[in-house]
Amino acid sequence: MVLDISKALISAEKVNALKDAAMQAQQALEDGTCAGNDFLGWLHLPSSITPEFIAELQACARTLRENCDTVVVAGIGGSYLGARSVIEALSNSFAHLTNDGKTPTILYAGNNIGEDYLFELTELLKNKQFGVINISKSGTTTETALAFRLLKKQCEEQRGKAMAQKVIVAVTDAKRGAARTTADKEGYTSFIIPDNVGGRFSVLTPVGLLPIAVAGFDIAQLVKGAQDMEAQTAVGVPFEENPSAIYAAVRNALYREGKKIEIVVNYQPKLHYFAEWWKQLFGESEGKDGKGIFNAAVDFSTDLHSMGQWIQEGERTIFETVISVEEPEHKLLFPGDEENLDGLNFLAGKRVDEVNKMAELGTLLAHVDGGVPNLRVSIPRLNEYNLGQLIYFFEKACGISGLLLEVNPFNQPGVEAYKKNMFALLGKPGFEKETEAIKQRLG
Ligand code: PA5
Repeated sequence: MVLDISKALISAEKVNALKDAAMQAQQALEDGTCAGNDFLGWLHLPSSITPEFIAELQACARTLRENCDTVVVAGIGGSYLGARSVIEALSNSFAHLTNDGKTPTILYAGNNIGEDYLFELTELLKNKQFGVINISKSGTTTETALAFRLLKKQCEEQRGKAMAQKVIVAVTDAKRGAARTTADKEGYTSFIIPDNVGGRFSVLTPVGLLPIAVAGFDIAQLVKGAQDMEAQTAVGVPFEENPSAIYAAVRNALYREGKKIEIVVNYQPKLHYFAEWWKQLFGESEGKDGKGIFNAAVDFSTDLHSMGQWIQEGERTIFETVISVEEPEHKLLFPGDEENLDGLNFLAGKRVDEVNKMAELGTLLAHVDGGVPNLRVSIPRLNEYNLGQLIYFFEKACGISGLLLEVNPFNQPGVEAYKKNMFALLGKPGFEKETEAIKQRLG
């Protein structure tokens, strides 16, 4: 993985002015002396994962693969996005239509409350030998619990209690929450989400690793990539050689210059969900106390035909971070055409990726000309190892960056506000006072 900040449109002095603070933030993470220090389990997570633990996850994944044509991953936020980001990045773009019969189709639930979505999912599953991975750290998240109740019932009715017990797996807290109670009572295989790892930093726990293994990907390589990035960004590595510290410093320097919005850009549709994961990682970590860069994401070249105008000429409060893949997995040459009716013969014989790369370069130059600082993170190929590197690179950068911003990057008090109102409106037991207050407020 390579970070290129040469087009960041910020002086070396301004970045270097944050060097000491970035290194202190890194040390505070290491010493556990920073805000949110009870949630630092992610910091040395990659290097603590043993081959035995990976084998345990792979064995569970094998059971699901052998007994299911479809596996529904139920979870939301940090209990969902990491797994989906890696699975979509590595899967065939048309995996749902081209199932080879060896790998279960992975579907997702518990990340919305759309009645049509859940109805259509349960209809689709009527013909399927499906299993469920129920992922919730708290075990009480409404979206996930609602979906799981439906899925559990359907799975037991369709496949029988004994098979359901085999193909429903829980990933949850060691002791607390309804998901733990259910898993213990029903005798499901279960994996623990460590207390000191928050949802958005949990992709390298069973939260991400189990679904990724079920989807047929090499979790050992994913972890290896993260381990190598853990070493590359460790305390003791000079600032100039630590990509996470540099990225954290540059984005904070830009923020202080009025660049309040960071757009993550991809040129590979498969990275759409990786950007969703990134958005949550940074948005939930930094957006608090009236501060924080707003995190957005665009898929290019698609969104050049929509948001491209805004990025080129709108308010100059944005910068972009491009995640670029150097080499695609497949080769496709642009064909020549004798008649050349579309006038595209100048591209004949070129790889499609060459056109894509010129779109990327042309856009970079145009945006820089338009006053949009550009940071570029490139990986050689879309594979497990490189994604593992990217994941840890961004996690470490996020920890450092949040501390540079002087917020607690590891809590998310703001997400409770909507839940309190929703529970009050639905009349959840224990929320009687809030129900009364909200009724009065609404008249
Ligand atoms: O990052 C977070 O902490 C959140 O996005 C959670 O992962 C999300 O709210 C789901 O929570 P839980 O795993 O408790 O169901």
